Amino acid sequence: MPTGQPRSVPDFLYGTAWKEDATARLTELAIRMGFRAIDTANQRRHYFEAGVGQGLAAAYSAGLVTRTGLFLQTKFTYQEGQDERLPYDPAASLARQVAQSLASSLEHLGTDHVDSFLLHGPASRHGWTDEDAEVWEAMVRERDAGRTRMLGVSNVLLAHLEQMEEVHDELPAFVQNRCYARLGWDREIRIFCRERNIVYQGFSLLTANMHALAHPAVTTLAQQVNVTPAQIIFAFARAAGMLPLTGTTSTDHMAQDLASREITLAPDAAREIESLFG
Ligand SMILES: NC(=O)c1ccc[n+]([C@@H]2O[C@H](COP(=O)([O-])OP(=O)(O)OC[C@H]3O[C@@H](n4cnc5c(N)ncnc54)[C@H](OP(=O)(O)O)[C@@H]3O)[C@@H](O)[C@H]2O)c1
Repeated sequence: MPTGQPRSVPDFLYGTAWKEDATARLTELAIRMGFRAIDTANQRRHYFEAGVGQGLAAAYSAGLVTRTGLFLQTKFTYQEGQDERLPYDPAASLARQVAQSLASSLEHLGTDHVDSFLLHGPASRHGWTDEDAEVWEAMVRERDAGRTRMLGVSNVLLAHLEQMEEVHDELPAFVQNRCYARLGWDREIRIFCRERNIVYQGFSLLTANMHALAHPAVTTLAQQVNVTPAQIIFAFARAAGMLPLTGTTSTDHMAQDLASREITLAPDAAREIESLFG
């Protein structure tokens, strides 16, 4: 049955990085398995966004879902993060590049708006620059024009967010970061986000934290509730207030990742996992 309900903020994001020729098939499969939120980027080096669009079209044709039943998120990536396959004119101003990149994303995805548009990463690791400010203001204009419902930033440090708060009238709705257990699962950024109602999206929850997956606190709990350690990590992420991403290529793992939404960790267990390594 197609689902037509609009989704404001989803509970799991299916990530489409590094899938190349399998992108369309895996995007459709993820929707068939029950994912309703898709993360991509207009960065051909790591994502095949047009393939995501093909997968969406196949899902619509198969009657799995309608556009309004999906949450679509894409990103603007600076030229430094791209290869030669650019979705904008590199000679244009950054503001124009943002507009061109999003226009190209909408074409790839076969839609007139996305639900979320992220800055893939700030220009510098040393702070929020004038370039970032120009890009962010251009993103705000795209949002005001209705081409995205919400805005976010990715790969940020606390300093970036603190400086954004000083410089801009509004903060992002989303922060998407690689989430390391050794940094208390990005604790300081998560606290900043929680205090300002920003939704924290965590990626590499499994791949960056293999030691957490193998830790007895996780494996014992997994055995007790008859789930996998990966499912415990996703359940923990949710208990810690995160919106998790997975980019699994496996049908079984898709089902397991989605089923982790049914696991409720006791507060003590969540606290223990949160401070396992930092
Ligand atoms: N903003 C950024 O800069 C950025 C950077 C990286 C990623 N992302 C986004 O985040 C998405 C996810 O990326 P990721 O870095 O989290 O890693 P990923 O590409 O999703 O890799 C997840 C790994 O965990 C495995 N896995 C997934 N579910 C599992 C389960 N239930 N049991 C056991 N293994 C499982 C997968 O193997 P199988 O395939 O065999 O299941 C895969 O090896 C990307 O596709 C992209 O959309 C964003």
